[in-house]
Amino acid sequence: MDKPGVPLQGAYTTKAVRELVGSWRLTHQTVALVPTMGNLHQGHLSLMEIAREHADRVVCSIFVNPTQFGVGEDFESYPRSLADDEALLAEQGLVDLVFAPDDKDIYPFGVEAAVRVSVPQLHGELCAAGRPGHFEGVSSVVLRLLGIVAPDVMVLGEKDYQQLVLLRRMVRDLQLPIKVVGGSIQRERDGLAMSSRNRYLSASERRTAPKLHGELKRVREALLDGEENLRALETEASRALRAAGFDPDYVEVRRAGDLSRPNGLESAGDNLIVLAAAWLGKARLIDNLRI
Ligand code: PAJ
Repeated sequence: MDKPGVPLQGAYTTKAVRELVGSWRLTHQTVALVPTMGNLHQGHLSLMEIAREHADRVVCSIFVNPTQFGVGEDFESYPRSLADDEALLAEQGLVDLVFAPDDKDIYPFGVEAAVRVSVPQLHGELCAAGRPGHFEGVSSVVLRLLGIVAPDVMVLGEKDYQQLVLLRRMVRDLQLPIKVVGGSIQRERDGLAMSSRNRYLSASERRTAPKLHGELKRVREALLDGEENLRALETEASRALRAAGFDPDYVEVRRAGDLSRPNGLESAGDNLIVLAAAWLGKARLIDNLRI
């Protein structure tokens, strides 16, 4: 197979990334940023492909951001595999620059004293309910990455749909001259959405995990068949997940544009989405499906 074959460069400091991006800017090249926490899989790589279609140069950042992990969450054990990630990116030839900063580069005054930005939209709803402070950590780190790389385009996955909606809002509200592009969810053959956290699943949990996607499909089918009682669908899906061994945080049908709650007066043209988060053993899995 022909590879695009872009030679990969590495930058580990803000200064280094600014110099390289600055040299591209001198020749009026456009830049896309794909922010990640590493442990790259096909889901991430699909975003790099999208990024290549939107800009002359692609930067992938790899930074396991401490401020988006809550107390008792998996910050310490989150898989870190920088050498493998860089080898994969080099082999794929889709990315010009991997930016793998350390904490001091991203938070020069330390994590505790760091300036934070929060997006009030959907405060306390969906994933924000079970993970207080998580999205503030996400928006704060992404704003920093955007400040350092200063891209024209940022590519994010629809897998983390609430994150995508909130970061779009941040970019619009702060009037950053950046286009935000969403990439569709990449799945394993059995339907499980690819995720770095899937590795926390035992063999038997792994066999159960695709049922999350299965329940979302059932909700979609019911909606397409004309079911109007959203509450009943959500409750039934949660019950089925619990029966399969999950501990669901939520299953909810929302409007796809802004994740607001449908008011029951939707017309056929209204875009809906069903979203779920559920624990399976040590893994908190999230998934969503457009209706
Ligand atoms: P991470 O979980 O590494 O995900 C990086 C990007 O890959 C996100 O935009 C996410 O939505 C996307 N992604 C993950 N799995 C995917 C899949 N199966 N299909 C398509 N896209 C997928 O999300 C984060 O990191 C962080 O919160 C970050 C934005 C980097 C801020 O720290």
